Amino acid sequence: MADQDSRAGKRYDSKAIIDYVNRVHASHDSALAQAFAVPDGIPAIQVGPSEGRLLQLLVKLSGAKKIVEVGTLVGYSAIHMGKALPAGGKLWSIEYDAKHAEVARKNIAAAGLSDKVEVVVGAGVAVLPTLEAHAPFDIVFIDADKQNYDKYGAWAQANLRTGGMVIGDNAYLFGELTDDHERGRAMRGFHEGVAAAFDSVCVPTPDGLVVGLKR
Ligand code: SAH
Ligand code: DHB
Ligand code: MG
Repeated sequence: MADQDSRAGKRYDSKAIIDYVNRVHASHDSALAQAFAVPDGIPAIQVGPSEGRLLQLLVKLSGAKKIVEVGTLVGYSAIHMGKALPAGGKLWSIEYDAKHAEVARKNIAAAGLSDKVEVVVGAGVAVLPTLEAHAPFDIVFIDADKQNYDKYGAWAQANLRTGGMVIGDNAYLFGELTDDHERGRAMRGFHEGVAAAFDSVCVPTPDGLVVGLKR
């Protein structure tokens, strides 16, 4: 029941509940399990199983064929989305760290998705312009350096088709969204830019997930 407390942000989840719903709705096959198990030396900062599953369902629901992801890590979210792409569909996933990209490519190959998911090594702001030859895109998923979210959001607005979807992870900025610092300003610029040009919502996942459809 959406009572007064839950509308104000109170959550009823617990580790037991999260484990249960992930097991029932978002269980891992061997490829997702491999990509979820981030090796030592690489931070385990991938989306959660339910957010990954939601990304997959949004790809499937929208019939997306061309997707850009900023922030690959080792391919967990990319594999979720890649699984929902139709034949001939393509996901370009941008990763700054060459070591992360190397592990991601192995995980994507193990998932049988090497023909659909391409990892492009470099910084988002440098790589995004090189992908414009493939525009317009159906989905742009932003999950990399938080101080550039406003730039990534503006790029998404310019390079998505009408009706195309922007998605942004960590939209609460680890609890710092309303703080007075550069990353806070960039993340608020992302929110406000999306709201101005998209029909949008910030889904109350643990760290907030913006979803918008370009008007
Ligand atoms: N989307 C992934 C998680 C990404 S974590 C998943 O859910 O599975 C964020 C990633 O962004 C890290 O691998 C980090 O190296 C990368 N990154 C950081 N700054 C970046 C930049 N400027 N351009 C591209 N990638 C960047
Ligand atoms: C970090 C990045 C993320 O995208 C995330 O979902 C969690 C943590 C990080 O840089 O620490
Ligand atoms: Mg994230």
